[in-house]
Amino acid sequence: MLYLKEEKMKKLEKQRKKALGEASIGGKFELVDQNGKKFTSSDLEGKWVLLYFGFTHCPDICPDELEKLCKAVDIISANKEADPIQSVFITVDPERDDVKAVREYIAEFSPKLIGLTGTQEQVNQATRSYRVYYSAGPRDHENDYIVDHTIITYLIDPDGKLVDYYGQTKTAEDVATGAINSMKKYRSLNRRLGFL
Ligand code: NI
Repeated sequence: MLYLKEEKMKKLEKQRKKALGEASIGGKFELVDQNGKKFTSSDLEGKWVLLYFGFTHCPDICPDELEKLCKAVDIISANKEADPIQSVFITVDPERDDVKAVREYIAEFSPKLIGLTGTQEQVNQATRSYRVYYSAGPRDHENDYIVDHTIITYLIDPDGKLVDYYGQTKTAEDVATGAINSMKKYRSLNRRLGFL
C-alpha cells in the first residue's frame, strides 16, 4: 500500500514538475560557492530558497537587504508551520567578488547564508534567468565603482519555481509571512494532488 502510494506521488510530482517547467522567470545556473566548490541550481532542488543578487562593495542597500533576508529566514525557521528555507546571495560583480570576498562578506550576515560567484559569463547566465538588471558605473581614481542593480528578493519553491518576490519596501516580517503562506499553499496543493 505504502509503496503504491509513493509511486503515485512520484508520478504526480513528475507531471507537475513538467508543467512548471514552462515558468519563465528563474531557472538553471552554474556558479561557485563561498568554499570554491561548484554550485548549481540543482543543489537547491527540494528546498525553499530566498535569493538575492547584489555586490559586496554596495555601500548601504545590499547590507540592509541581506540583513532583512537573514532576519526573515530566522523568523521563518522559528515558525512551526514553516518548512526549512535556504538563503542565497549571488554577486553581480564577479570582477571584485571572488570566492574569498564573498565568503568574508556573507560571514558578516549569517552562517546560514550561501554566497555564490563565478565567471562573468556564469553570472550573466544567472542574472538572465532571473531577469536581474545590473550595470557597473564609472570608476573613480581608486578604481572603485558602484554597480546599479535590481533590488529584489526572490522566493523559490522546492521545484525551483519562482513563486513570489519582495521589493525594498517589504520588511523582514512581510517576507517571512509571504514565504510561510506560500509554503502552506504548496503543501495543500501537494496534498490535493496526492489524494486525488
Ligand atoms: Ni546593492
